[in-house]
Amino acid sequence: MALKVVNISKSYGDLKVLDGVSFEVKEGEILCIVGESGCGKTTLLKIIAGIEKADGGNISLKNGRIGFVFQDVRLLPWKTVLGNVEFVLESVGMDKSRAVKVVKLVGLEGFEDYYPKQLSGGMQQRVGIARAIAIDPDILLMDEPFANLDALTKERMQSELLKIIQDKTVIFVTHDIDEAVYLADRVVVLSQRPAKVVDVIDIDLPKPRDRVSEKFLEYKRRIYDLL
Ligand SMILES: Nc1ncnc2c1ncn2[C@@H]1O[C@H](COP(=O)(O)OP(=O)(O)OP(=O)(O)O)[C@@H](O)[C@H]1O
Ligand SMILES: [Mg+2]
Repeated sequence: MALKVVNISKSYGDLKVLDGVSFEVKEGEILCIVGESGCGKTTLLKIIAGIEKADGGNISLKNGRIGFVFQDVRLLPWKTVLGNVEFVLESVGMDKSRAVKVVKLVGLEGFEDYYPKQLSGGMQQRVGIARAIAIDPDILLMDEPFANLDALTKERMQSELLKIIQDKTVIFVTHDIDEAVYLADRVVVLSQRPAKVVDVIDIDLPKPRDRVSEKFLEYKRRIYDLL
C-alpha cells in the first residue's frame, strides 16, 4: 500500500467540503478520483500533500516524496522551461543536470530555453509534469492537468502520460469520466459536496484502451450513473 486515506473531513467555516473520505492507493497504480466541480477534489489532494490541514481523519503515506501537478500550472514566468525544472531540483537538493533528461521525456526537447509565455497550454502542462516527476516522487498527485486543453491535445497527452509515468504511483483528479476510464487502474467516485466516496471501481481493461469499445463505454456509463 502506497497511501491510505482514512475518514478525512474538512470544512471551510460553515461549508462542509469533505465528509469522511477513505480510500487506499496501491503501489504502482493509477488511481483516478472523479467528482463534480466544487465537490472537494483539490482540497483532498492538498490535504494528502500536506499543503492543507484536515479537520479529522488521517493520511498514512509510506514514502515521503510527493510530486504535485497543479490545476493552474503555476510556472515561474521569469524562468525558462529548463530553469523551471532546475528550480525544483535545486529546492530539494537534487542534481539539476537531471532537468535536461526530464524535459526530453515530456517531449519538450528544443524548447528548453523558451519562457512560459512562449508556450502553448499543452506545452505548459508538460513543463508542469516535468517539474513534478523530476524529483522522482514516490507518489504523483495530478489535479485536472489536462482540463484546459482541446479534445485532441488532451487525448494525446493522456496516452503520452501513460508512457511518461511508467509504473509510478499516481493519484489523478478529473471530472472527465472518459479520461478516468482511459487512465485509471481504479476509479474513486466522489459524491457532490460534501464529498463522500460513493464507489471504487476497478477498470479491468488492458492498456492502451480503446475509447469506443463496448466495455469502455460500459464503465463510463456506470460511473456517469453514480455521479
Ligand atoms: N481556501 C479556501 N477557503 C474557503 N473555501 C474554500 C477554499 N478552498 C476551497 N474552498 C471551497 O471548497 C469547495 C471545494 O473546492 P475544491 O477546489 O476542492 O473543489 P474541486 O472539486 O477541486 O472543484 P473543481 O473541479 O472545480 O476544481 C468549494 O466550494 C470551494 O469554494
Ligand atoms: Mg479542483
